[in-house]
Amino acid sequence: MMKKNKIFIACDTTNILKLKKIIKSTHNTKLRIGYKFGLEFLNSKNGKYFISKLKKKIIFADLKIHDIPNTCASTVKAIRYLNANYLTIHISSGLQSLKAAKKYSGKTKLVGVTTLTSLDNKSLKEIGYNKSIKELVLHQAKLAKKAKLDAIVCSAQEVKIVKKVFKKEIITPGIRLLGDLIGDQKRIMTPKEAFQNGATSLVIGRSLTKGNIKKNIQKLIRELK
Ligand code: C5P
Repeated sequence: MMKKNKIFIACDTTNILKLKKIIKSTHNTKLRIGYKFGLEFLNSKNGKYFISKLKKKIIFADLKIHDIPNTCASTVKAIRYLNANYLTIHISSGLQSLKAAKKYSGKTKLVGVTTLTSLDNKSLKEIGYNKSIKELVLHQAKLAKKAKLDAIVCSAQEVKIVKKVFKKEIITPGIRLLGDLIGDQKRIMTPKEAFQNGATSLVIGRSLTKGNIKKNIQKLIRELK
């Protein structure tokens, strides 16, 4: 793991006390930690306000914008007050939407979400896509490049493919520490394997936030050695 590599902790909760505990137990470690806030926290009553008051933290707003170009652009403008370091948009919103969002993202890194790590080839067929996961993610990576996005989210299983066409940051969720439960995820990998495959940063939720957070962080550090 290199210095620039980050671990984004998925703060999937609506409970401010729980969140404060997550931050307290993780901010003083050897790792470069960022905090990822998803739809759950961002839509909770005091969520965005809480984030706007956080100082000196790497903030990842996982808003997963998925809309028409005009709405994508105005959403990016509207969320500027958060000063997030990272903001996500679904690549499947289309090239024009990605470009429209990129126009207003300023210092915030605009991150393209490829295909959710909870989907597999069977789920893609169900939705009506004919490509395999690997083909689709490669295609989406090319689109992200075209739209000049700053980073990509994909599963660690596709990092090698994505790297061929997308040379900037690659962030991978779907990470489990050795022996942890898979839950609803399908395309998973351990942190060490994900970095070895070329991920620049990882998103880890339940493997760190369930149970004793400090112990989980120590386990992560041991696994990364
Ligand atoms: O608990 P777990 O480590 O599975 O959490 C993964 C986090 O990454 C969740 O917050 C989820 O919303 C997010 N995510 C994902 N797959 C994507 C994009 C984001 O699992 N493709």
